[in-house]
Amino acid sequence: MLNRNLIQKQFPIFQHQSNLVYLDSTATSLKPKIVIDKIKEYYEEYSANVFRGIYPMSEKATIEFEETRSIVSKFINANKSEEIIFTRNTTESLNLLAYSLGRKIVETDDEIVTTIMEHHSNFVPWQVLASEVGATFKIIDIDDEGYLDLGLEKVKNQKLKVLEQIITKKTKILTLTYVSNVLGTINPVKEIIKEAKKINPEIIVIVDAAQAVPHLKIDVQDLGADFIVFSSHKMLGPTGVGVLWGKEKILQEMYPFMYGGDMIDEVYIDRSTYKNPPHKFEAGTPAIGETIAFKEAINFLDKIGMGNIREHEKKITDFAINRLIDTFGQSIKIYGPKNIEDRGGIISFSFAKFHPHDIAQILADEGICVRAGHHCAMPLHTCLNVPATVRASFYIYNDERDVEKLVEGLKKVKEILK
Ligand SMILES: Cc1ncc(COP(=O)(O)O)c(C=O)c1O
Repeated sequence: MLNRNLIQKQFPIFQHQSNLVYLDSTATSLKPKIVIDKIKEYYEEYSANVFRGIYPMSEKATIEFEETRSIVSKFINANKSEEIIFTRNTTESLNLLAYSLGRKIVETDDEIVTTIMEHHSNFVPWQVLASEVGATFKIIDIDDEGYLDLGLEKVKNQKLKVLEQIITKKTKILTLTYVSNVLGTINPVKEIIKEAKKINPEIIVIVDAAQAVPHLKIDVQDLGADFIVFSSHKMLGPTGVGVLWGKEKILQEMYPFMYGGDMIDEVYIDRSTYKNPPHKFEAGTPAIGETIAFKEAINFLDKIGMGNIREHEKKITDFAINRLIDTFGQSIKIYGPKNIEDRGGIISFSFAKFHPHDIAQILADEGICVRAGHHCAMPLHTCLNVPATVRASFYIYNDERDVEKLVEGLKKVKEILK
């Protein structure tokens, strides 16, 4: 296990919020001092714009900014840092893809395939695109345990039979989440990509890695996807910074997303030409200080080691599931896979008799931060036949003590609402 006390010491929020039990890192993570200090450093010491000035402050800001790009690139083992595009968040990265790639390659009668467990930001942009161009929007279902229904668990290590029925030569895009933000399911993305590309070698695969990159070691070259997207704020970094990694060749061919400053090469009265990626997709002044500070978050995670983070989260999640079941038995329903190897540090649950929002409110009164609702995954909740769930999620600053507080809090919920 990671040492919670040592880690919490590096997060100033724990000095300001005494007895904080923060179990909502799936929504956004807390920020270590080193990240906060780096933002402050930019604003206090060299707060110039990037790529524009030739004076030292601007040059320093540009170097710091580009250093983050290179650190992100190494962190996910991209081929080169030009394949890293900074956006505002995962949502913007996915909308960029639906616009700049989707509107370029998807035509009437083509198919876009996604899954029922997507966050709305990887569902709605594709639903809208499909309806605009007259394409078919296909959805991979889940089974009773919260795995993608690919026939996988029935024929372990065998062909993904269901994929063969869903993906065809007309499928232009397959877009799916690596880790479900509700069920915690870690999808066998590498195997799915391999199989999908076997069925249709032209298919473009997009991976929503918002809940994966902060918690698992991701190697984009090994994964075999064409694009992955994630957010800085879910991995100890600042808000306002998202990442889109894509294969250079496809990025070159895509439409720009927004037009304006910094993304153009030349502008004439009748036409304009655009810079190469990544700048082609980074119009206007970015979140400079936040992007600069993002590298400190990555360095922090790197120092702990993504393998250690995964092991830590596995232990807490396993402990939490057992404690919840031991304490509340049949009255609690926990969603997602039973096998801890197949799930991240996310536990969504419900009690038949209590409304999730009431549970979250009583827990909040006890200083326990969880989330209640559909977690921006309404199609999934419809499929699960529940309007809302309570979600507790874990990160490096949590350990079993937080789980015990959650269990105590839930006992109180039962007392109050009985
Ligand atoms: C799986 C997944 N995708 C996308 C998003 C959207 O991320 P952001 O709000 O940073 O755009 C989230 C946020 O919770 C998520 O969990």
